[in-house]
Amino acid sequence: MSLPLSIQHLCKSFGSHMAVSDVSFEIKPGEIFGLLGPNGAGKTTIISMIMSLLKPDSGSISVFGKDALQNPRFAKEQIGFVPQELVHHQFFNVEKILSFHSSYFGIPNNGPYIEYLLKKMDLWDHRKKAVGMLSGGMKRRLLICKALVHKPKIILLDEPTAGVDIELRAGLWKFIRELKDANTSIILTTHYLEEAELLCDRIGILQRGKLKTVDETQNLLKHTFRKITITLEKEIPHFSHPYLSNSKGPLLEFTLPKDITLRTLLNDLALDLNAIKDLSIREGTLEDAFQHILKE
Ligand SMILES: Nc1ncnc2c1ncn2[C@@H]1O[C@H](COP(=O)(O)OP(=O)(O)O)[C@@H](O)[C@H]1O
Ligand SMILES: [Mg+2]
Repeated sequence: MSLPLSIQHLCKSFGSHMAVSDVSFEIKPGEIFGLLGPNGAGKTTIISMIMSLLKPDSGSISVFGKDALQNPRFAKEQIGFVPQELVHHQFFNVEKILSFHSSYFGIPNNGPYIEYLLKKMDLWDHRKKAVGMLSGGMKRRLLICKALVHKPKIILLDEPTAGVDIELRAGLWKFIRELKDANTSIILTTHYLEEAELLCDRIGILQRGKLKTVDETQNLLKHTFRKITITLEKEIPHFSHPYLSNSKGPLLEFTLPKDITLRTLLNDLALDLNAIKDLSIREGTLEDAFQHILKE
C-alpha cells in the first residue's frame, strides 16, 4: 500500500525569496500531522502546492502513490481542502453550495451526507441562508463541510480554527478525531500550539521555508522543561540553586529538565515540610519546545 501523501524535496521561490526550501515529509493513514511555524514560514505555500494551486519549482508530491502534479484530478478527489482565506459565492445558500460542490465530484444525491455534515458543524438551522449573511465562524464551518462532501481520505486544514469561537473549536477538534478514527489522514496548520499539542500525532516545524524538525508530538514534549513553583512561609535570604530560574521574596521558581524528578529537587532543597506554603507544577508544553527549536 502506498502512503496517502509523500512530499519529497519540495522547493518554491517567489522572485528571489525562497518560500519553501527542500521540504520532505510523509503522512500515514489515520495520522494527524501538524505543520507549524511562524507567519510566513511557508505553510500555506506547501498546502497550495499539494492542491496544485501553485506549481513547485522542484520536488515531488505523491498521493496514494500517484504523482499529484501529473494527476491533479485524482489528487483532488482524494483530498478535502479547507483554505486559510474565506472564499465563497456570497449569493448562494449554504445547502446549494454543498450540493453544487458534490456534483463537481460527480456525486448526485448527496443530501443525507450534506445533512450529516451540516448538523455536525452546527449549520443545519442556517442551511437556507445566503453565504453573505453568515458570520465569519459560520463561513469557516461551511468551508469545512465543503471540503468533506466527497468523503476524502486526506484532509488539509489550513488554520481551520482562526476566528472560530472556543465552543465551536472544541466541536471541531472532536470531529477531527472522529475523522482520524475512520482512518482519514489529516494535515493541520495552526498557530495555536495547544491545539497542535492536543490533536497531532506528529509535528513538523517550519522556519523560513525549511523543515527544522519532524517528530512525534510526545517526543517533542520529552525535551521540554517542567516549572516548579514553591511558595515558602518565609523568604530565605540569598537563596541560590542550580535549577532556580526566578525568585521573588518567598516565591521560588525552578526549571527542571525532564529527567530530574520532583523528589530529587525536594531532597536537594531539604526544606522542612512546614516551611512550604504552596507548590505548583507546570509540565513543559509544545510552546516551550517550539520556541526552543526556533532558537536553535
Ligand atoms: N503569491 C505570492 N507571491 C509572493 N510571495 C508570496 C506569495 N505567497 C506567499 N508568499 C511569501 O512566501 C512566504 C510564505 O508564505 P505562506 O506560505 O503564506 O506562509 P504561512 O502560511 O506559513 O504564514 C511569505 O514570505 C510570503 O510573503
Ligand atoms: Mg498560511
